Amino acid sequence: MPRVLVIHGPLMNHIGEAETDLYGMETYEEINASLQAMGAAAEVTVDVFQSAIEGELVNAIAEARGKYNFIIINPAAYSHTSVAIHDAVVYCGVPTIEVHLSSLANREPFRNQSTISRVVAGRIEGLGAESYRLALRYAIERLVGHE
Ligand code: DQA
Repeated sequence: MPRVLVIHGPLMNHIGEAETDLYGMETYEEINASLQAMGAAAEVTVDVFQSAIEGELVNAIAEARGKYNFIIINPAAYSHTSVAIHDAVVYCGVPTIEVHLSSLANREPFRNQSTISRVVAGRIEGLGAESYRLALRYAIERLVGHE
């Protein structure tokens, strides 16, 4: 079966608990369950990894090399700072979709820049949990040709 790795950065495991005007009401568990249900329906394995530790995210991305067909990643705050995550995305060679719940363009200027945007296949932002599902829909379409 094709394999997709969903990677969540710091605090994403608390989504739905605070700042719901920005990030929506869906919880981390609900988002992952919806992604895994989509994967199961399409016969695509969806694995999930979350960490608040930059090096663990880097290791997870690097270890995806040769094992996964797509990565969907929300590096959260590290989006705006991490050269190491950028380098890991390049190293792993797995097509990667960057997602954000909120619209970075409509927020503080320090969120306008993402270190990985220039090395990802595409970026979906501002659509809440739907950003993840649209990314997975795209990956499934590319991997198995249907949703
Ligand atoms: C976020 C946006 C980031 O700027 C922020 O630090 C997050 C979440 C998003 O999904 O909207 O933690 O990546």
